[in-house]
Amino acid sequence: MSTVQQLQLPQRGERLTVVSVERPTPSPDEVCIRAKAVALNPLDWKNRAFGIVVPAWPAVLGVDGAGIVEAVGDAVKDFKVGDEVLSLCGMAARAGAFQEIITVPVNLVAKKPASLSFEEAASLPICYLTAAASVSGLGVPLTHLDPTGSSSLKSILVVGGSSGVGAGAIQLLRMALPSATILTTSSPQHHERLLALGATQCFDRSAQEDTSAIRAATPDGAGVDAILDAVAATATEPSIFSALNPAGPKLVSHPVTGQDPQAPEGVQIRPVMGRQVFASKGGHAAMSALTGLVESGKYKLPTKIEVVGKGLDAISPGLDRLMKGVSGTKLVVSL
Ligand SMILES: NC(=O)c1ccc[n+]([C@@H]2O[C@H](COP(=O)([O-])OP(=O)(O)OC[C@H]3O[C@@H](n4cnc5c(N)ncnc54)[C@H](OP(=O)(O)O)[C@@H]3O)[C@@H](O)[C@H]2O)c1
Repeated sequence: MSTVQQLQLPQRGERLTVVSVERPTPSPDEVCIRAKAVALNPLDWKNRAFGIVVPAWPAVLGVDGAGIVEAVGDAVKDFKVGDEVLSLCGMAARAGAFQEIITVPVNLVAKKPASLSFEEAASLPICYLTAAASVSGLGVPLTHLDPTGSSSLKSILVVGGSSGVGAGAIQLLRMALPSATILTTSSPQHHERLLALGATQCFDRSAQEDTSAIRAATPDGAGVDAILDAVAATATEPSIFSALNPAGPKLVSHPVTGQDPQAPEGVQIRPVMGRQVFASKGGHAAMSALTGLVESGKYKLPTKIEVVGKGLDAISPGLDRLMKGVSGTKLVVSL
């Protein structure tokens, strides 16, 4: 029997362990990818500790991977053996990123932009999809997937602009709303980069406590139409809601993190999951369209990357490091 290695989590809270398993073969609509790099996400350490969205045990964690196509199912037309790709991963052990051969449905896979290393490419998928879901959650169209959509929002606050989700959302919002006021919060060392990605003005995180400067930066000084809370900060810092224009649509979207904000009266809160994008208008092409977005320069790497090691054994210490927090950085492991 030919075997490959995977990093298994036997149960929540236990140790990640390298295990040999039978080499996978693809179903008709699946792609097997030899992993060359994986990115580490907050969801991975939360799953390791609490198993929050683990469908079955033992689990193979990891939602972001990049590598080389090893095998394709009979119905797969758009990829062939040897193609360099990136993929959203996870939701089944064979699909987890933290293994030698990742087996995923073809709609989760995109060609790797030639300009990106495997490590850079691995940093993209889940943050891009979650940024897209957060933008959609505000009713703003994803113009690269649905060019006919429109939105009347004129001003939006992106909370946590230096996160992978936040910096992705700023870019997608700017594509959809070329003349909107897009304000964002982050620590100051990221402001120049976030302006280059499309933000109109950046604020230190202290503006989340006293939002007067944010409100003053909106066109009429009355506050923003909507908040895209990339880091679910509204759950612990409800003062952020005071940035909203009381006479505006008062929309708030945020990725699901397990911490739910309490909506003040009249505020509509829309929690989103990255995978929701596939069900949105044009969303079936969400991953394949990412290649063109990057190659055309419309979507840049949202964060810098830092390679924290090589091999499956480097993933667990990498997750320990991620738990302590990162700033404008995606941690990546080469395989
Ligand atoms: N449900 C889903 O489908 C889904 C998918 C992906 C991610 N998520 C969740 O979305 C969140 C963002 O993920 P990510 O990968 O983009 O995170 P990340 O890049 O690891 O986030 C780190 C950044 O968050 C910023 N930050 C942290 N706390 C903040 C706060 N209270 N206010 C403002 N900024 C804050 C930091 O900003 P500074 O250092 O500049 O201060 C830092 O740059 C995570 O909670 C993750 O679990 C959910």
